[in-house]
Amino acid sequence: MRAYRIEQNGKVGRGDIIDMSVDDLDAGDVLIRTQFSGINYKDALAGLGGASIIRRYPCNAGIECVGNIEASNDNRFSPGAEVIVHGRGIGVSHDGGLAEYVRVPADWVLPLPEQLSAWEAATLGVAGYSAALAVDRLETLGLAPGRLPVVVSGATGGVGAFAVAMLARRGFAVIALSSKPDAAEYLSRHGAVEIISPADLENKPLSKARWCGGIDAAGGPVLAKILAGTDRNGVVASIGNAAGVELATTVLPFILRGVTLTGINADSDMATRTRIWDRLSTDLKPEGLAEWASTIGLGEVPAVMRRMLAGETTGRTIVDFSEAASK
Ligand SMILES: NC(=O)c1ccc[n+]([C@@H]2O[C@H](COP(=O)([O-])OP(=O)(O)OC[C@H]3O[C@@H](n4cnc5c(N)ncnc54)[C@H](OP(=O)(O)O)[C@@H]3O)[C@@H](O)[C@H]2O)c1
Repeated sequence: MRAYRIEQNGKVGRGDIIDMSVDDLDAGDVLIRTQFSGINYKDALAGLGGASIIRRYPCNAGIECVGNIEASNDNRFSPGAEVIVHGRGIGVSHDGGLAEYVRVPADWVLPLPEQLSAWEAATLGVAGYSAALAVDRLETLGLAPGRLPVVVSGATGGVGAFAVAMLARRGFAVIALSSKPDAAEYLSRHGAVEIISPADLENKPLSKARWCGGIDAAGGPVLAKILAGTDRNGVVASIGNAAGVELATTVLPFILRGVTLTGINADSDMATRTRIWDRLSTDLKPEGLAEWASTIGLGEVPAVMRRMLAGETTGRTIVDFSEAASK
């Protein structure tokens, strides 16, 4: 089998495409023949040594995969069944999805929802799942379409763009925060009604309330500005740190406006995964999903990872493991 495998290289890792034996994969109850795997920024960091991501070397990269059960020691899964796996340490401490085969414990595996094709599920991947989890949390905490819009930061990123589309689909007016001056057409197409640069937002403990809440993929100063502009009883979900991990804010949005700040971690329990993937296949499924991703063969992974770290990619990139794609 072929895999994009990461070896230790000093304090970080270095990935390459190699041939290996299925027998050398990490242990598990089910063997999955991969159909598609989305590439994430985290995979690119791990593969190109941009950060210390891998917890056990050598390790096949890829924090997600969609495929068919090839062999199973667990009676919940029969050969041929289409399944999804993401998180749970794959691509970090357990051989991951950027490989022709993946072997994992059965408890990590979700059946593919009926209304999604394998390619659609891969297109959504961890980015779509995380965005859906955040939208679900906002709704659970009482946010509904109304007087003021919602805001999404890091809007042209994988998580941000899906969050824009899903919130728009749920009837919210969406303000997209993006640092990219030429992103307006892309973001409007996905449902944003207004596009603002984070640099144009006021840097004050409290500013005029412009939104009833939102999803923040940026973190750092961007999250502080979002909190300052959130209306009474608003809800903000913190999901990412593209702009930084520090949060310099005051208590004023919380004690004067009753704002709630809630955290999102996509490595959720299996009951939550089942519920969120069900929503991803129905009321949160973005329109025109076919246009969200480009497809490549495994051989193109290193080049795409380099472009990803250079900020040159938009939308999702999916590795197709079919025989035709690998030729
Ligand atoms: N909590 C979880 O479980 C979870 C799950 C998935 C992802 N994440 C995190 O969520 C974040 C977004 O992930 P992603 O896959 O969407 O990443 P991505 O595709 O790389 O997008 C990140 C976006 O953030 C914005 N950005 C980048 N650098 C910035 C900066 N210095 N200041 C302000 N904005 C900046 C850019 O959007 P604009 O140019 O449009 O502003 C960029 O497109 C990452 O931090 C990721 O680690 C967390």
